[in-house]
Amino acid sequence: MFSSNSTAFSSIIGHSPALESVIRTAQIAAAADVHILIEGETGTGKELMAEALQQSSKRADKPFVIINCAAMPADLVESLFFGYEKGAFTGADQRRDGYVQKAQGGTIFLDEIGELPLSLQAKLLRFVENGECQRVGSHEREIADVRIIAATHQNLLRLIDEGKFREDLFYRLSVVTLRLPDLKQRRRDIPELASLFLKNAAERNNTAMCTFAPDALNQLKHYAWPGNVRELKNICEHVSALMPGEVIHRDNLPLEILEDEKSGTSGYILPEHGIDMESLEIDLIHQALNIAKGNKSKAARLLGLSRDAFLYRLKKHNL
Ligand SMILES: Nc1ncnc2c1ncn2[C@@H]1O[C@H](COP(=O)(O)OP(=O)(O)OP(=O)(O)O)[C@@H](O)[C@H]1O
Ligand SMILES: [Mg+2]
Repeated sequence: MFSSNSTAFSSIIGHSPALESVIRTAQIAAAADVHILIEGETGTGKELMAEALQQSSKRADKPFVIINCAAMPADLVESLFFGYEKGAFTGADQRRDGYVQKAQGGTIFLDEIGELPLSLQAKLLRFVENGECQRVGSHEREIADVRIIAATHQNLLRLIDEGKFREDLFYRLSVVTLRLPDLKQRRRDIPELASLFLKNAAERNNTAMCTFAPDALNQLKHYAWPGNVRELKNICEHVSALMPGEVIHRDNLPLEILEDEKSGTSGYILPEHGIDMESLEIDLIHQALNIAKGNKSKAARLLGLSRDAFLYRLKKHNL
């Protein structure tokens, strides 16, 4: 039996449980030669994961064709996918292969699958079901052996509800679904990722490597990271270019990272094993009452609550 080559996954950095469990599933799925759906917000590493899956599959030495479904002109999409015959349309001066013929024996990575026009979804379904396809302008059916790895940052179930994505195609493609965690759900990986990106940037620019001082690293760990790992990489490249070889302090970080504190993140880092919210609330109320020497209005202020909201919580916990 073919077993996946785990070194292909070593490019995916991080040891947080949320990421490690996805990688474990991915290693098994890579070897099983099934279609895979990768979900995750922008910059979480969907393309990196697709490459690792391909490299560790039995199709590793076969073509890997990357298609961005969001960037395909609607009128050309079918001919781009399935190829066309000479004379099929104006300008078709010779027979051409499409992505499926070019990927024969290998893998197609369908990025942003949620953007695929409905008209092509029906044809893709037939291809996914039995490898059958038809060039534009031809009546002959061809068979291609291609594995599909699809990726999306959208909620496909919502698109199905809205009538924008075919349910049957969704179930065919998501034989295995890998959900990549947001960077804010795996903050403990930030120092390792940052250090790798600083090292790579220094090598590429041929300069000495920067390092983050503890105050800067602390700030990075508290930031919300809407752009996920890509955003962290960009910031590392930014400081490497502007301050080569230096120790980077909090104040040297780009403004958006410093200003994020004001935009609602509490600064509190939820441990990955979770917390007991009820006990935490009771504990904080006791601490506030202690500091305020029993004065309820002052204790409420310490917790950022109105007196009424504080009294409500006292009652709720029978305190
Ligand atoms: N776990 C990781 N370890 C190392 N590098 C990573 C990791 N995750 C992402 N990256 C890097 O971050 C950048 C963004 O990753 P990638 O392009 O795979 O994200 P994506 O999910 O496809 O994003 P988008 O939805 O915007 O296309 C890449 O340079 C990639 O190499
Ligand atoms: Mg991508």
